[in-house]
Amino acid sequence: MAETTPTLLLLPLMLLSFFLSTCYQQVHCFEHKAVLSLSLQKFQWKELKHVSECLPQQSRREKGATILEMKQKDYCSGHIKNWDETLQNRLVSDESRVKSMQTLIKNKMSSRIKGMSNSIQIPLKSGINLQTLNYIVTVELGGKNMTLLVDTGSDLTWIQCQPCVSCYDQQEPLFNPNISQSYRSITCKSTTCQTLSMSTGNPGVCGTDRRTCNYMVSYGDGSYSRGDLAREYLNLTGTAVPNFIFGCGRSNKGLFGGTSGIMGLGRSPLSLISQTSRMFKGIFSYCLPDNEDPGSLILGGNSSVYKNSTPITYTRMISDPQLSNFYLLNLTGMTIGGVNLQASFNSSGIIIDSGTVITRLVPSVYRALKTEFLKQFSGYPPAPTFSILDTCFNLTAYEELDIPVIRFGFEGSVQMTVDVIGMFYFVKADASQVCLALTSLSYEDDIGIIGNWQQRNQRIVYNTNKSKLGFAKEICN
Ligand SMILES: *[C@@H]1O[C@H](CO)[C@@H](O)[C@H](O)[C@H]1NC(C)=O
Ligand SMILES: *[C@@H]1O[C@H](CO)[C@@H](O)[C@H](O)[C@H]1NC(C)=O
Ligand SMILES: *[C@@H]1O[C@H](CO)[C@@H](O)[C@H](O)[C@H]1NC(C)=O
Ligand SMILES: *[C@@H]1O[C@H](CO)[C@@H](O)[C@H](O)[C@H]1NC(C)=O
Ligand SMILES: *[C@@H]1O[C@H](CO)[C@@H](O)[C@H](O)[C@H]1NC(C)=O
Ligand SMILES: *[C@@H]1O[C@H](CO)[C@@H](O)[C@H](O)[C@H]1NC(C)=O
Ligand SMILES: *[C@@H]1O[C@H](CO)[C@@H](O)[C@H](O)[C@H]1NC(C)=O
Ligand SMILES: *[C@@H]1O[C@H](CO)[C@@H](O)[C@H](O)[C@H]1NC(C)=O
Repeated sequence: MAETTPTLLLLPLMLLSFFLSTCYQQVHCFEHKAVLSLSLQKFQWKELKHVSECLPQQSRREKGATILEMKQKDYCSGHIKNWDETLQNRLVSDESRVKSMQTLIKNKMSSRIKGMSNSIQIPLKSGINLQTLNYIVTVELGGKNMTLLVDTGSDLTWIQCQPCVSCYDQQEPLFNPNISQSYRSITCKSTTCQTLSMSTGNPGVCGTDRRTCNYMVSYGDGSYSRGDLAREYLNLTGTAVPNFIFGCGRSNKGLFGGTSGIMGLGRSPLSLISQTSRMFKGIFSYCLPDNEDPGSLILGGNSSVYKNSTPITYTRMISDPQLSNFYLLNLTGMTIGGVNLQASFNSSGIIIDSGTVITRLVPSVYRALKTEFLKQFSGYPPAPTFSILDTCFNLTAYEELDIPVIRFGFEGSVQMTVDVIGMFYFVKADASQVCLALTSLSYEDDIGIIGNWQQRNQRIVYNTNKSKLGFAKEICN
C-alpha cells in the first residue's frame, strides 16, 4: 500500500515534465504529433461516382456570401482501372506545372534585371499545366449551369461555346450564345480587349469579322482555349453579376475532365475576383476536402459562414511586381514535430497555389525538413523513391501511425498547420509505397510553392483588397 503513493505522486510529475519539454519554448502549446489512419486511406480509393452523378455542384447564399460546393474531380471519374497509374500520372503533370512556373518566373526576373520589364510582357499565365487542377464548382452563366475547374493560378474564366470548331468532351450541354438574351460580344477596339494580355499573356486580336475580340490562353501541357471575348449574365446564386467578362471558347483542347471550362481566381483585372470586387470586396476563401464529400468556395467576407475550429490568423501577401499574378507569402520558418528547422528562410517568398499538388521547397529548406522528419519518423520500412518524391515507406503492415506535424510560419507570427492527411502521398493504393508529400526544387533561387495536398482541411481566406491571406483549421467535408 505504502508503495503506491510515490508512484501516484510521480505520475503527474512525469506528465508535467513531458508537457514542459514539448511546450517549453512556445507561447502557445500545440500538438506535435497526429494520428493517421491508413486503413481509412486505403478504403477511400474505391468509392467513386461518375461525373454525371457529380453534377451540378450545389450552391447557396448566406449572410452576404455566395457558397459554392466544391468537389474533388477524382471522385467523379467513374471506375478507375489503374489507381497506381492515376496516382503516378498526377505527379508527372504536377512536375511539369512547377517546371513551367519556375521557367516563366525566371524569364520575368531576368527581364527585370535587364531593365526591360516595362517593354516586354512575358506571358506568365501561359505555360501552366492544368491537368493538376482538381476542384470543381458549378455557376449559372446565361441561365445555364456550368461546372468549372477552380484555378487561383489563372485569370480569365472561359467555357466551351457553340458553334464549336474543336471541343473536348464535356458532361453539360455546350453553351449556345444564340439563344441567350444577355450575351454580348466584345469588340477588338475596346479597352477590355486590350487588357487581355495582362490576364492571358496574349493580346486580344480582331476576329475574322474584324469586330469581335478574340482571346487565346495556352498552357504548358499543350492545353488551350481560343474564342470570343464576351459578356454574359453570371448568377452566383442570387448575386447577379451582369456583364461578366468571359471567354466563349470555340477551339479548346486539353484534359479538362469533362468540365465546361475554367474559373480564374487570379489577381489581374479580368479575374472573377476583380470583376466581382464591388459585391464581395475582393475576398474569397476555400476549404479543400480530402474525400468525396464537397468542400466549399466562398465568395464574400462574412467569416461567420465559415466552419473553422481555430481563429483565422492573417499574414501579408507580398507584392512583387514581377510575380503580380501569383499569391505570394513571406515564409519565415517551419517546424516539424515542434522542432524549428535550422535553415535559412531568406528567399523571396512562397507562392500559394490551388493547382499545384505537392509543396515545393528550396533545396536547403527541404534537406533540413527531410533530415528532421527521418529523425522523428524512424524505424519504418523504407520504399523506393518515386518521381519527385524521395522519402518513401512501405506501410502495408500498419493500420495507424503517429506522424510529426509540420507547420509553416509566416510573417506576423502566423502559422499554417498541415493536416495529417497532407503529410503523405500514396504512390501505390495498397500503401506499399507512401511518400512524404513535400519535395525539393532544383535550385536555391527557385520560388517555393504551397501545394493543394497540404492545403486540405483548412479555411484559406484570400483578401485581395487588404492584401492579406488567412488560415484556420476546418474540416472541409
Ligand atoms: C442548376 O442546378 C441547380 C442545382 O441542382 C438546380 O436547382 C437548377 O435548377 C439548375 N439550373 C438550371 C438553369 O439548370
Ligand atoms: C448562331 O447565329 C449565327 C448567325 O445568326 C449563325 O451563323 C450560327 O450558326 C448560329 N449558331 C448556332 C450554334 O446556332
Ligand atoms: C439565380 O440563381 C438562383 C438560384 O440558383 C435562382 O433562384 C434565381 O432565379 C436566379 N436568378 C436569375 C435572374 O436567373
Ligand atoms: C476595399 O474595401 C474598402 C472597404 O472595405 C472599400 O471601400 C473598397 O472599395 C474596396 N476596394 C476594392 C478594390 O474592392
Ligand atoms: C455577419 O453575419 C452576422 C450574423 O451571423 C451579422 O450579425 C453581421 O453583421 C455580419 N457582418 C457583416 C460584415 O456583414
Ligand atoms: C539573406 O539574404 C541577404 C540579402 O540577400 C544576404 O546578405 C544574407 O547573407 C542571407 N542570409 C542567409 C543566412 O542566407
Ligand atoms: C511491403 O511490406 C510487406 C510486409 O509488411 C511485404 O510483404 C511486401 O513485400 C513489401 N512490399 C514491397 C513492395 O516492398
Ligand atoms: C519577411 O519577414 C521578415 C520577418 O518579419 C522580414 O524581415 C522580411 O523583410 C520579410 N520579407 C519580405 C520580402 O517582405
